[in-house]
Amino acid sequence: MTQQQSGGTATETRKAVVEAKDVVAGYIPGVNILNGCSLVAYPGEMIGIIGPNGAGKSTLLKAMFGLVKVHSGSVTLGDRDITNLRTNQLVEMGVGFVPQTNNVFPSLSIEENLRMGLFLRPKKTRERLDAMWDLFPVLHDRRNQSAGALSGGERQSLAMARALMMEPSVLLLDEPSAGLSPVRQDETFLRTRRINKTGVCVVMVEQNARRCLQICDRGYVLDQGKDAHTGTGRDLANDPKVIALYLGTLAEDVDSEREQH
Ligand SMILES: Nc1ncnc2c1ncn2[C@@H]1O[C@H](COP(=O)(O)OP(=O)(O)OP(=O)(O)O)[C@@H](O)[C@H]1O
Ligand SMILES: [Mg+2]
Repeated sequence: MTQQQSGGTATETRKAVVEAKDVVAGYIPGVNILNGCSLVAYPGEMIGIIGPNGAGKSTLLKAMFGLVKVHSGSVTLGDRDITNLRTNQLVEMGVGFVPQTNNVFPSLSIEENLRMGLFLRPKKTRERLDAMWDLFPVLHDRRNQSAGALSGGERQSLAMARALMMEPSVLLLDEPSAGLSPVRQDETFLRTRRINKTGVCVVMVEQNARRCLQICDRGYVLDQGKDAHTGTGRDLANDPKVIALYLGTLAEDVDSEREQH
């Protein structure tokens, strides 16, 4: 639950917003996909999760959102143990999740999709809808169209907006930039950062490892169901083991991008 700040004698202790500790989890009895996987996010942080296909990235998010049974280990939200709670309880407690696919109701309109996101608190609908129209103007312009008519990127926006309707304190995102053009990917990353800056802790799985490490505060590299490496984007991008495994020659890119911010 606590963290020692590196680089200096001053140590700061921060409380985790959300933490997965030594999580063992899987879909089929006897077959574990996560083999003691840990991740922690502190207030205000945007965390990136990268790693090869099948490493368990999506499974980790699902385990944190009550969609995959946690056999041992724990998931905590602040001081509360939320291990294996039901998804609707987690939403009520302030956890939002945007899955990789099938994340909107295609036959409902955009506005109806957003209203569904707030079914637990209908009195706040107007206020939250207005906040989402501000954040995603393109959705406002097309609010009466069916979600099934949206492009991949617009669907991702709608799915994120729906999760944000409940004003979550933690937003779990599974590959928000998947399938988008480079320009749309960048828009998605920057919008996600903006959402994070409003005080929402973001935990994001990404295939685009380079951009993910540039934009996130810290990252985790998952391998075979475990958190194999963790650190700041720069640390990970400069770690020879991480470079050898996943990144190629990304370190310079990440450094030069950071200098511009
Ligand atoms: N619903 C499921 N039932 C059984 N096994 C599953 C299920 N979903 C995923 N798995 C298995 O769990 C392992 C990890 O899958 P997961 O989707 O977490 O990987 P990932 O790191 O998100 O990969 P990708 O980069 O391809 O999205 C894989 O071996 C996969 O086959
Ligand atoms: Mg996945």
